Amino acid sequence: MHSQEINGQYDTSFIRDTIQGLSAFPKSLQSKYFYDDRGSIIFQQIMNLDDYYLTNSETEIFEKYSREILRYIIPNKDFHLIELGCGDGIKTKILLEHLVANHTNFTFVPIDISELSIQSLSDDLRSEIPNLKIEPYIGDYLETLDRLHNDKNFDTLPRMVLFLGSNLGNFSHSETNDFLSRLSGDLNEGDQFLIGLDLVKNPHTIRRAYDDSEGITKEFNLNLLRRMNLELGSNFDLKQFEHYTYYDIRNQEVLSFLVSTQDQDVQFESFDKIFHFEKWEKIFMERSHKYTLEDINILAQTHGFEILENFLDSREYFCNSLWRKR
Ligand code: AVI
Repeated sequence: MHSQEINGQYDTSFIRDTIQGLSAFPKSLQSKYFYDDRGSIIFQQIMNLDDYYLTNSETEIFEKYSREILRYIIPNKDFHLIELGCGDGIKTKILLEHLVANHTNFTFVPIDISELSIQSLSDDLRSEIPNLKIEPYIGDYLETLDRLHNDKNFDTLPRMVLFLGSNLGNFSHSETNDFLSRLSGDLNEGDQFLIGLDLVKNPHTIRRAYDDSEGITKEFNLNLLRRMNLELGSNFDLKQFEHYTYYDIRNQEVLSFLVSTQDQDVQFESFDKIFHFEKWEKIFMERSHKYTLEDINILAQTHGFEILENFLDSREYFCNSLWRKR
């Protein structure tokens, strides 16, 4: 098998992060690499699962509270509605339809690392909401946001930034602080930030969301091994890894692992390295942090935001928290 030619920045960091993660003890991989085109499609399937209550809950909030959320937007003034990571687009579509129906002047700016997701969202929106002004960007969201912040034409308009789907939950504690500090630095006073966060609830409900009976989440995790086989020339045998997750109630986070069911060696052609896996050795794949309303309050305060309003679904599973940059 031939590995893909390594020429871009992206491939180089994928290689660097893979070597670093698999050389560490315990071994780990970064969940941001889940989202190649196939991974993005599997994630869409996860979002349609009943067990994965996050998407339904957040959609319910958007259906119920779009008008309230948009009440905070300055009337008769152009603005940018920026979405970091475009997900399935369904929730955002509800907001967009409200805005367009009310003749609000705005440009929708979705930013996502997956070209496929951006492309299908943009095509979809252009046909469903023909009057929508849309300016999509493919790339890392903070890098793109930094760039837009330094662009004079862009920076003069107020903005509302959307970061939905509890994406923040996949960050470590320090990544969370770095992300919110950088975001805060890229916003001007009065700009708004709408963040979707999964709330602490019955731990059984939380765990089930990450260990669905149809095995889609298992496929999602294994897909990263498949991706490495394709892009880094490794020879992972996917049948020799189990998917295992649990909810760590003390730290309020689901932890996901792949576990080697055999003593085995995996070889990487692209950087000529072999990694050994003991029988039952684990690879840490992902954390999905859960929040209390008090946690959300602390996050906002410590990063220079005030909370305008918290919107919850009827089961109180999920929160869309609207912040204003101070
Ligand atoms: C994207 N992110 C918020 C998802 C989550 O819930 O942590 C990723 C995911 N992993 C397994 N299922 C969904």
